[in-house]
This record gives sequence, structure tokens and C-alpha cells, in this order.
Amino acid sequence: MLQWDELEQSCQTCQKCQISQTRHKLVFGAGNRQARLMFIGEAPGEQENLQGLPFVGQSGQLFDKILQAVSLTRNEVYVANILKCRPPNNRDPLTSEKRECLVYLRNQVWLIKPKIIVCLGRVAAQTIIDPKFKITRQRGSWIERKGYYLTAVYHPSALLRDPSKKRATWEDFKEIKRRYDLL
Ligand code: URA
Ligand code: URA
Repeated sequence: MLQWDELEQSCQTCQKCQISQTRHKLVFGAGNRQARLMFIGEAPGEQENLQGLPFVGQSGQLFDKILQAVSLTRNEVYVANILKCRPPNNRDPLTSEKRECLVYLRNQVWLIKPKIIVCLGRVAAQTIIDPKFKITRQRGSWIERKGYYLTAVYHPSALLRDPSKKRATWEDFKEIKRRYDLL
């Protein structure tokens, strides 16, 4: 495992997969490197690719509102994605891309050692928790693995498409905050 400087450097120069060729900015991750709570999204979108920061576009603004609603801030959590580069047209990450890129995310988790890891959306949940994870049925459930508490919630972009998912997400975030406050 690498320390932060070497890790970020190896990401910034990564050319392991095709989408590294079309990135504008790599999205390494952002927030508190001592966070007890970490969020993992899918991959950078258009705005994230332009700015080099996670969740700064439309779904990022909604994510901020949800954090605010449970009195959390970006400064106390860490946010990263399964993929560090934007897939063209926001297509789903390829298995090969996930395999190559997960090395970096695992290294970040190892450095941060958060207590709670929250997967944002189906892709993160299926990559991190269980390949068969059903977001509609299993969001809000918790498991413990290797000393981490893992859960998943709907992706903010799913809430933008279908606002009826907001109520369940509110309940999920209240539970996340409740557990966070107990740490
Ligand atoms: N969607 C994600 O999954 N991650 C981002 O950083 C932005 C949008
Ligand atoms: N579809 C959903 O309904 N939610 C997610 O989080 C991802 C895909």
C-alpha cells in the first residue's frame, strides 16, 4: 500500500485503462482523510471530469443537501468513486475498468480506515458489498466486514429521476447519522 502522496501521484499518471485517455481531470476523491464516514459513488460525471472533484454536479448538489439535512458536512466525511475517470457518455463502468481502478480505492480505504462505508447507488453497492446487491430491496441494510460497517443508499441521481425514492433515503441517512454519532 502507498501513502497519500505516492497514491495520488500514481492515480494522476495512470494509463491502465481506455478511459484514462479521454479524461480531462482525474477525480481522486476529497474530504477528511481521518474521516470515520466514507461515501463511495460510481464514477465522475461531466462536471466532476471538468473540475477534478467528486459530486460537484447536479447529483452532488443534492448530495450536499442530504448531508446538510442530517447535520453532516463534506469536511468531516471522505468522498470517492469506484472509477477515478469519467466513462464516455456516463456509461456503466466495465468490469475491467473496475478491477484496475479498485486498487486505488482500496488503498484509500486502507489509509483512511473509516468506521462506516456508504455505497451511493447500485454500481458501488454491487462492486463493494455484493455483485448481486439489489438496491431497491437491500438499501438501508447493514453488514460488518473486516471491521467496517457497510451500507448502501440510492444514488442521488436516482433521486433526481424519481423523487419518490427520497423518503427512504431520508430514513437511511438518519440511520447513518445515528450510527455515526455512536462512534
Ligand atoms: N456520480 C457519481 O457517482 N460520482 C460523482 O462523483 C458524480 C456523480
Ligand atoms: N437505480 C436506482 O434506482 N438507484 C440507484 O441507486 C441506482 C440505480
